[in-house]
Amino acid sequence: MSFPQHRPRRLRTTPAMRRLTAEYRLDPAELILPAFIREGLDQPNPLSSMPGVVQHSTDSLKRAAAEAVELGLGGIMLFGVPEVRDAVGSGALDPNGVLNQAIRDVRAEVGDDLVIMSDVCLDEFTDHGHCGVLNDAGVVDNDATLEIYAQMAVAHAEAGAAVLGPSGMMDGQVAVIRQALDAAGHQETAVLAYAAKYASAFYGPFREAVDSQLKGDRRTYQMDSANRREALLEVELDLEEGADMIMVKPAMSYLDILADVSAMSPVPVAAYQISGEYAMIEAAAANGWIDRRRAIEESVLSIKRAGANMVLTYWAPELAGWLKESK
Ligand code: PBG
Repeated sequence: MSFPQHRPRRLRTTPAMRRLTAEYRLDPAELILPAFIREGLDQPNPLSSMPGVVQHSTDSLKRAAAEAVELGLGGIMLFGVPEVRDAVGSGALDPNGVLNQAIRDVRAEVGDDLVIMSDVCLDEFTDHGHCGVLNDAGVVDNDATLEIYAQMAVAHAEAGAAVLGPSGMMDGQVAVIRQALDAAGHQETAVLAYAAKYASAFYGPFREAVDSQLKGDRRTYQMDSANRREALLEVELDLEEGADMIMVKPAMSYLDILADVSAMSPVPVAAYQISGEYAMIEAAAANGWIDRRRAIEESVLSIKRAGANMVLTYWAPELAGWLKESK
């Protein structure tokens, strides 16, 4: 193929021309805001490793959800930080536990105007910080954990979550959750499967956000960053198990995975721009080393370009505000 007359710069001449010829654009409706609620707070608690992000009180969470509706965001993903933890994460099953209560509060605040999503995982609720319960050898016990996930999922659905996000990377988690939901009459509750979730150093700031008790790492259940093909297996398994949507996480260091998954997935694909991705850009911008707004826009656009239909990002409200003002 040769186009001797072609001068690609013609389509870059003015902002209007660039806007017209842009292949991808951002839309608030495809952005999902991850939000943390911490039990016992009456004021939001700022996170030092994620400037601009807080652990919410009940009131501030409700306000953030209302603002998300106002801004036209697609959804909110809720994470709970309990006051008390134990070996089996009992707080996750308590209908009045911090996360179940938050789901109810947000649902009461925004109804169906925002898709309410919830994290189905035990790491915030266990005193050892792992995503599941441990066996006698101290290893995360897959099948014992599944039983708890099933009950947790039903509790979230009952509290009013529309989409459940199992993030623990236990084998078979989607099937067990789907079955439990159906058996409890929650056929309409959807599952957003964390299909390809990698063991990543970039989760660092999240550990502060949820006061993680974890000492070691999650390499026996999260994926190895050396693996690409395996992501497709994880996705296929989750689809077979009934996943309604799938996720790749983290986003920026895994754009190749996102592109692979996007090419084969028959269901919507989400990508999670995680805490460390947020913190890196904020830190560089705070030092004056990069242009904050341009770096944020470029990073989220790269995730869309790689194939994400939806992006979970802590910048969702700010980005949506910028998109509104540029209309
Ligand atoms: C586990 C979970 C994690 C994140 C979301 N769910 C942490 C982990 O797997 O270690 C990370 C999100 C982020 O870093 O922004 N329930």
